[in-house]
Amino acid sequence: MTPPATAPTARGDLGDDVATAHILVTTGAGGVGKTTTAAALALAAARAGRRTLVLTIDPARRLAQAMGLEELDDDPRQVELEDLPDGGELWAMMLDMQTTFDRLIDRHATSPERARAIKENRIYRTLSSSLAGTQEYMAMERLHELHEADGWDLLVIDTPPTRSALDFLDAPKRMSSFLEGRLLQLLLRPGLAAGRGIGRMVGASASAFMRVAGKVTGMGLMEDLAEFFRNFEGMYAGFKERAEQVLELLRDPDSRFVVIASPEPPPLREARFFLERLEQEGLHAAGLVVNRIRPEVPRDPSDSAIERVAEAQPDDRQGRSVAGALWLLRDVRNLAGRQRRDVAAALYGVTVPARVDVPLLGGDVHDLAGLDTIATVLTTGKTR
Ligand SMILES: Nc1ncnc2c1ncn2[C@@H]1O[C@H](COP(=O)(O)OP(=O)(O)O)[C@@H](O)[C@H]1O
Ligand SMILES: [Mg+2]
Repeated sequence: MTPPATAPTARGDLGDDVATAHILVTTGAGGVGKTTTAAALALAAARAGRRTLVLTIDPARRLAQAMGLEELDDDPRQVELEDLPDGGELWAMMLDMQTTFDRLIDRHATSPERARAIKENRIYRTLSSSLAGTQEYMAMERLHELHEADGWDLLVIDTPPTRSALDFLDAPKRMSSFLEGRLLQLLLRPGLAAGRGIGRMVGASASAFMRVAGKVTGMGLMEDLAEFFRNFEGMYAGFKERAEQVLELLRDPDSRFVVIASPEPPPLREARFFLERLEQEGLHAAGLVVNRIRPEVPRDPSDSAIERVAEAQPDDRQGRSVAGALWLLRDVRNLAGRQRRDVAAALYGVTVPARVDVPLLGGDVHDLAGLDTIATVLTTGKTR
């Protein structure tokens, strides 16, 4: 009676994407398994003979250690693996936002002096780490750099733990519109660029930000702000163009999004929105991964049979254990069934090229063996 979760043609694995895509982006609500899936997809590609780099954002400590990523240094490091076929390599790195942003400044600043002035500026240091969407944008920017550097068969990129996966798609646009923003235009008025009229500007702009900032830290901050935007002059076009190139790279048919959800309604809803958004934006979905789903339990014996047998157990140690195990079986089966109904309901009418169910494993995935288990499911759709 439940409607089909996906079009009947949906593949049950991502093996084709692992073998042919140039970029795979893992995305989804917080905590659903983006980082784990990114690492597992990259491992699968290396095992398929591809030179692969995974750019992780926030790996759990033990997973980072398992991949040889003790420090965050913005350089790809090769993961030691045995039995890889010819050409197969796995490299991993963590995103260092600040370094990426600094390089972007170096690239677009009109002179090395201006680049230095910006990087030393207090406003820049705050902005580069706290502006909403910066981390998302820097991830995309780094991806573009790595793509240009070439030599990678596949780049797998993890996305930041944003409140909403959709924030991530908006990041390049948000970055350009921030840079073109009204505050900016006010600050760039010629009077200010010539170093005059800062006080007048504050009153005139009546910007809440300016007033608050001025109150908190005094005029030193105002000057920093003015200097920051002055040095930024001439860089907007470059920034904007770069943001467009990033989007263009993401629109390439060889760039594909792997949308991840856990089998609960909120992350499933988010995955659905995200899949719809991808289509609107002309971006390509590789498929949907439902992660940490409970393995299905057969329908025999029925709930009433289980209940009958459980209630007939004698009230001794063995009987209580048998009854407990039977109740547990019934509950787990119901939970597994409910998860599947939730998935089907949330995805009603959604078409995806592939849909993979990844089972809930016994513990956290923090080593290469765990990643291999998930990699096998992702590429074959089978647990073994
Ligand atoms: N299939 C799975 N079975 C068991 N644990 C999992 C599975 N997938 C991910 N995890 C665990 O769930 C936690 C969150 O995963 P993570 O990949 O960091 O999520 P995200 O990057 O989306 O925040 C981690 O501790 C990870 O080891
Ligand atoms: Mg993560």
